[in-house]
Formats: sequence, structure tokens, C-alpha cells
Amino acid sequence: MKLTDEEQAMYAGDRGVAVQRAMDLLVRYGEALGAESLVDTNNVCGTVGATMPFLRDYSAKHGGFDAVFSEFNLDSADVIEIPKVKVYSSHLQQGLDPEHAERQNVHSDVVKIYRAGEAYTGKLGIQPLNTCAPYQVGNVPVKGEHCAWMESSAVIYINSVLGARTNAEGRESAGAAMLTGKIPYWGFHLEENRGGTHLIELDIDVRTVADWGLLGYYIGEIVQDRIPVINGLQHVPNMPKLKHFGAAAASSGGVEMYHVIGQTPEAPTLAAAFRGQRPLETIRYGAAERRLAYERVNTTGKDTQVDFVMLGCPHYSMEQIWEVCQLLEGQRLSGNTQLWIFTPKATKQMADQAGYTKIIEDAGGFLMTDTCSSVGRVMPKGTRVAAVDSAKQAHYLPAIMGVQAWFGTTAECIQAAVTGRWTGALA
Ligand code: F3S
Repeated sequence: MKLTDEEQAMYAGDRGVAVQRAMDLLVRYGEALGAESLVDTNNVCGTVGATMPFLRDYSAKHGGFDAVFSEFNLDSADVIEIPKVKVYSSHLQQGLDPEHAERQNVHSDVVKIYRAGEAYTGKLGIQPLNTCAPYQVGNVPVKGEHCAWMESSAVIYINSVLGARTNAEGRESAGAAMLTGKIPYWGFHLEENRGGTHLIELDIDVRTVADWGLLGYYIGEIVQDRIPVINGLQHVPNMPKLKHFGAAAASSGGVEMYHVIGQTPEAPTLAAAFRGQRPLETIRYGAAERRLAYERVNTTGKDTQVDFVMLGCPHYSMEQIWEVCQLLEGQRLSGNTQLWIFTPKATKQMADQAGYTKIIEDAGGFLMTDTCSSVGRVMPKGTRVAAVDSAKQAHYLPAIMGVQAWFGTTAECIQAAVTGRWTGALA
């Protein structure tokens, strides 16, 4: 790999041991991928915390958060003192909501570790956004900006909707990028890898957030890690729709980028989206395909008595919280059903001020932050059957938590929370 003078100096250890280890990791990683150089980044989203059980154990045994950063972000068995980050860095979702720890069945000792971790990341200069949707709370990269982000739903969003450039980084490469401002120059950083591969012709109007989730789920299974191009929109999708579409496509497949003709920034026309190449395949999406996706997403839902409604995957925006409040205001949840809604904590502050948190709590639900049921493995005790409005969550929750999951619209989920019964159906 060719390194600049500045990179050579970091690699040689002129900026300290932690930066040297970070450069070593990036060079090994880049060479394994066939990258010929590194590229500058000033926007890293990663995770450095220790709220997962095995990381907590590691931290306790090996001397704290620097030991965790050394091993799990820098691939270094020696404990290195970690300096402040070099570039703008944000923390992704964590393993719990400290304000709802008891409700999430999280022990107070773990909350103490969480708080200590918060202080640690603050000391390093990492912004505590604590969300899988940093682009909803101020971290909004621009077209062409080279980023180093983890989290599949965020990666696909910023590549596709914003036209920023990132690969799906891991904890190690993101940690190393925070300290160096560098990331291997390969994959989606390169113009030639951003062209569409599969043409998706819409034969039906894809209207609701749930519809966009189904479309993403269907396409992801077919194209896997390639780049779908959606054509034939009948209306302009908003942010929650594109967010759910991408999250679903990244779950059923490994999609990290897509184009929507006339909508996303690198796809004003079909020729532009495909960079002048012919599609490998054309896939039609109509009523039959939508039904198939619905059936696949709903494979685990069997019992209609719903114990738990989980909303906010990816973390809900203010608009989505407002929508829930419209559906919920003045009602009470069923005595047998709990409602947890996940959102970034900055959004929760606004929801508190707007009175939305109170509407949700008056109904018997909770607005939570920092984590979600799949990542934090947090659910009400005794949950057997869940209802969700996210195809991504319907994909992961049964696998991770061993529960049944129904997928439907947000309105169907709120209906389930109020009645305790799943009555959703494909309209
Ligand atoms: Fe976010 Fe959890 Fe879904 S971290 S994307 S809410 S699985």
C-alpha cells in the first residue's frame, strides 16, 4: 500500500503507540482487501463501549476501557493508553438505556459500567449520539464525503440517500479511523464501485413505511450484496420510508447501497445509476412479490396474543414519534401488552418538550434511547410474542431472542398494543 509522508510518520510511531497500532491495523486491513492507499475521513461512526457481557468481563479482567479499546478496536493485546480522537467521531447504539435499566432487566452494576464508559468516550472526544441513525440527529454527511461508519442500516442510508461514501466498517477499523482520520480506499469510496447492478421495476405503488420495508426485504434476498436500482416510483418517499427500505435490504441481503431513479443523488437517470452499463438482471415487483415478502417477514408470527410491541428500528425520528402519538393519544395499552419505542436520546429530549413522551407514558408505553431489543437483548420479562413495524426487527428479534414476531404497519402495531391482539393483514 502506498502511504503519504504523514501516514508513514504515523505508521512509524511518530504520533504515539496507539496511532501506530491504528495505522498498522489499517494497513493490514487495506492490504487484505486489495486497497492501494488510504483516504482521509473526518466522519467516523463506531463503537468503543463495554456494555456487552463479554466486554464487561474483559474490561474487569484486563484493566478497564483502554484495555477494551486496545484489544477490540486496535487488535492489540498490550494495553495502550488511548489518546483523544483525531477526527469527528460519533458513538453508535449501546447495550442498554440507563434511564430504563430496571425495566430492561439490567443490573445496576452494568449501569455503573455504562456511565463509566460514557465518561471514557467523552474524554476521548467521541460524540455520544448513541444511535443507529446518527443522520437523524445532526451527523449528516454530504455527497461525496468519505466516511468510516459501522451499522448496516446507517451505512446504506448515507451511501444511497445522501451520496456519502462508506463501506460497512467494523469496530476495529472504525476505532483505528477515529485515531488517524484514515480508512482504506476501496469499495464504495471508489466511483467505479457505486454503479447499479440490478434493475427493480415497480409495478405497484409502494406507499407506506411498511411497504418500503417489504420492498427492501424482497430485494435484499435477491440481490444480496449488489446494488439495486429502483425505477417506477409513483410518489416521493420520505426519510422514514427510505430508512426502513435500506434497513430491510441490509438485513435479508447485505445491500450497502441502492439508487432510486429521480430521487437519490447519484441516480437522476437510469444511465447515470448504472454508470452506462447494462443491468445484470431486471426484477419486477408487483402485488405477488409484495405478498411473498409479507409472508417471509411474518414466518414466525403464530399466536395472536401480543405481549410486546417494539417500535423504533431503526431508531424512530421525531416524525414517527408524532405519528405514534396521533394513533395512541387518549388510549390505554392492554394490561397484557407492553409498548417500547426506541429513539436517539437527542430526539427524546425534543419529544419530552413536545409532550410526546407524556402521551406515550399516559397510555402505558415507554420512549427509550441508546439501544434496542435486538442489540441490547432487552425485552419485557416473559415476552413470547412481539409485534414490530420494521422488517429488519422482524428478521432479527426471533433469531436473537427466541420469540415470535408479527410484522405490520405502525397503526397495526399500536392496535395490537391497545387490544393485546394481532389483527394485522396485508391490505
Ligand atoms: Fe437500530 Fe437496533 Fe434496528 S440498533 S437498526 S434499532 S436492530
